[in-house]
Amino acid sequence: MRQAGRSLPEYRAIREKHAFFDVANTPELCATVTLQPVERHDVDAAVMFADIMTPVLGMGVGVELVEGVGPVVAHPIRTRADVDRVRVPDPEEFAPVYEAIRLVRAALRADQAVVGFCGAPFTVASYLVEGRPSRELNETKRLMLAEPDTWAALLDKLAATFTGYVAAQVEAGADAIQLFDSWIGTVSAEQYERHVAPWSARVLGAAHAPTIHFGTGTPHLLEAMAAAGGDVIGLDARVPLDAGWSRVPDRAVQGNLDPAVLLCPWDVVRAGADAVLARAAGRPGHIFNLGHGVLPRTDPEIVTRLAAHVREAGA
Ligand code: CP3
Repeated sequence: MRQAGRSLPEYRAIREKHAFFDVANTPELCATVTLQPVERHDVDAAVMFADIMTPVLGMGVGVELVEGVGPVVAHPIRTRADVDRVRVPDPEEFAPVYEAIRLVRAALRADQAVVGFCGAPFTVASYLVEGRPSRELNETKRLMLAEPDTWAALLDKLAATFTGYVAAQVEAGADAIQLFDSWIGTVSAEQYERHVAPWSARVLGAAHAPTIHFGTGTPHLLEAMAAAGGDVIGLDARVPLDAGWSRVPDRAVQGNLDPAVLLCPWDVVRAGADAVLARAAGRPGHIFNLGHGVLPRTDPEIVTRLAAHVREAGA
């Protein structure tokens, strides 16, 4: 799951020498950090190293990833004129990402998957509009509800950029695409259907590979998200896995151990994992994962042990 690398000393060693986007845009470095957690934990898939803001760098918007904060945008996008200045880049501008995918695909076994990803238009727009991480997303909602045409114009540009970006990742060898709509839990089901779903559907529909549709705080949105698309629906730790799955019965699910459980002693971690596996009950179509990202101060040894335990229990 996202930002897993942050907990690894071998990742931090590389980041001491290179800036985030330099790692992401140098295919060899990108492939190296992408493979680090796979080599260490022996998990079934590699999540490509990039950020949901990576494609935004080609849209003429200044973004910085501030440590301990997240993406910060110097000039937030809040008016029609701001949106009109955003450019839609050619997907080829992200060639280093695709080259890194080729390197990772070549380094993995055939039974290990390469997961490419993209931020969902809503969640990326929320960073562009707020300017920095925010809990409430008040400015985002104001724009969406007060100026629906400006909102639609912004999401049109994001979706146009992301459709080319995900298609090119698959072309380069990504086996699946995960769409991260991390902060979507802040909208109502009605707002989702009108102001979010059409654009997420566009991106998911462009992947031409299996897709994972992920969000957090989504107990009220699972059906609507599944309707927008995704072969796999991500479940965060707030919903019991079986209860969430019963709401999207025709899809696979991914989840959903609480990342905070990994800060606990092994007994607690094992019990938490077993509880998730018990709710999956061996039904095909469950991808064991955390409900959200690996927290930076997680002990990597615990993650390795968890992966081994899940593999053993699953077999
Ligand atoms: O595990 C991986 O390293 C895979 C690559 C990956 C990153 N970001 C690298 C990263 C992925 C899949 C993401 C997705 C991402 N980025 C999301 C969606 C998933 C989610 O968490 O809900 C979001 C919301 C972001 C935005 C973002 N970027 C945040 C919130 C942060 C953390 C800021 C912090 O320091 O706490 C980032 C920075 C970031 N992206 C880091 C990594 C490894 C850590 C910072 C660094 O190395 O400088």
